[in-house]
Amino acid sequence: MKHVLVVDDSLVIRKTLEEYLQKSGYKVSTVEDGANFFKFISETIPDLIILDKILPDEDGFDILCKLKLNQSFNNIPVILFTTHDEFENEMQGLKLGAECFLSKDTKLEELELWVDKLIAKQEKIKVIKDNLDSLSKEIADKEGIILEKVMELRDTNRKLRNLSEDLIQVLLKTLEVRDVYTRNHSMNVSKMSLIIASYMGMNHDQVADLKIAGYLHDIGKIGITDSILKYPSRLDDKKKRVIENHANIGGDIIGSVSSLKHLAGFIKHHHENFDGTGYPDHLKGDKIPAESRIIRIADFFDALSTDRVYRPAFSVERTIAMMKDKSGQFFDPEILDIFLEVINKSSPIKT
Ligand SMILES: [Fe+2]
Repeated sequence: MKHVLVVDDSLVIRKTLEEYLQKSGYKVSTVEDGANFFKFISETIPDLIILDKILPDEDGFDILCKLKLNQSFNNIPVILFTTHDEFENEMQGLKLGAECFLSKDTKLEELELWVDKLIAKQEKIKVIKDNLDSLSKEIADKEGIILEKVMELRDTNRKLRNLSEDLIQVLLKTLEVRDVYTRNHSMNVSKMSLIIASYMGMNHDQVADLKIAGYLHDIGKIGITDSILKYPSRLDDKKKRVIENHANIGGDIIGSVSSLKHLAGFIKHHHENFDGTGYPDHLKGDKIPAESRIIRIADFFDALSTDRVYRPAFSVERTIAMMKDKSGQFFDPEILDIFLEVINKSSPIKT
C-alpha cells in the first residue's frame, strides 16, 4: 500500500485528506508542523508528501528546500498545498522542486488524481533506476571479470615468453656443445638480421621473430655427425649433402615447438638462393620467406668474415665484394642494398 504523508496545521484538512485518501486505498499519516514532520521522516519514508505552505514553526518552502537537498528524501514527490491568496508563489514552489502546486480550493477528486499520477510516475522512475543500478552492477562485475582474465592472460604470456627464452637458450647451449663456433655466429646473425628487418620497416613482432630465428637458424646442426660438422677441410659433394640437411632438421626441430613453430619455415629456408639454386627446396625470389632472405645475407656475411676450421676469415671488404657479386643470385638485391647501407653506417667501409 502506498503511503501518503499530510503536513498541515489545520486539523480539518488533515482529517479530510486522511479519510478521503484512505478510502482511495492509500495509507495516510499526518503531522501538524515542521518539527513533527522531520521526526516522522527520520523514521519512515513516505511515497508522497502533501505539504502546507505555511506551518506554525516553519515555512513550507524551507522544508521543501531541505528535502530536495537531502539525497535520502529528494526523490519523494511533494504537492504544495496552499490557500488561494498564496497562489502567486506557485512558480517559486515549482522552482524549489515541488512536483505540483495546488490550492486548498482544489476538489478532492483532482487532488487524488495528482496523488495517483505522481506516485505512478515515481514508481516508474524507481523501476528504471533499479534497472540502471542492476545494469551498472552487471557491467562492473563483467569489467572485473575481463580485467581478471586480461591479468591472467598477461601472466600466462609472460610465463610462455620466459619458457620460450629458456628453451632457446637450451637449444643454443646444446648446439654450442657440439660446435663452439656456432654460439657467436648465431648471436651475430641474430643481431644483423634484426637490424636489417628494422631498416626494412618490419613490425615489432616480425623483428622479434627474426631475432629468435637468427639465433636458431643453424639449430639443425645438432643432427649432423661430428665427423662431418667438424671436418677440418673442404667438404666433398656427399658430405655437403649431409650438412645441407641441417636446414631441414632445424625446420623440423623448431616446427615441433608450439611457441616457435611459426619460425620453422624461416629456418628451413635460410640457405635458399634468390635465383632458386639454393636448398633444401630450391625456392626462388618472393617464394622464399623474407625472413629467410634476410638471414641468408646475415649468415653469409658473418660466416665469411670470421675464421672457420677450414680457412681464415676474409676481410670485410672482400666479403662485401663477394656478396655484391652474388646480388640477384644468392641474395635478394633489395635486401642486400639495405644490408650494405647498414654496414656502411656502422663502419666506414667502402662498399
Ligand atoms: Fe646454416
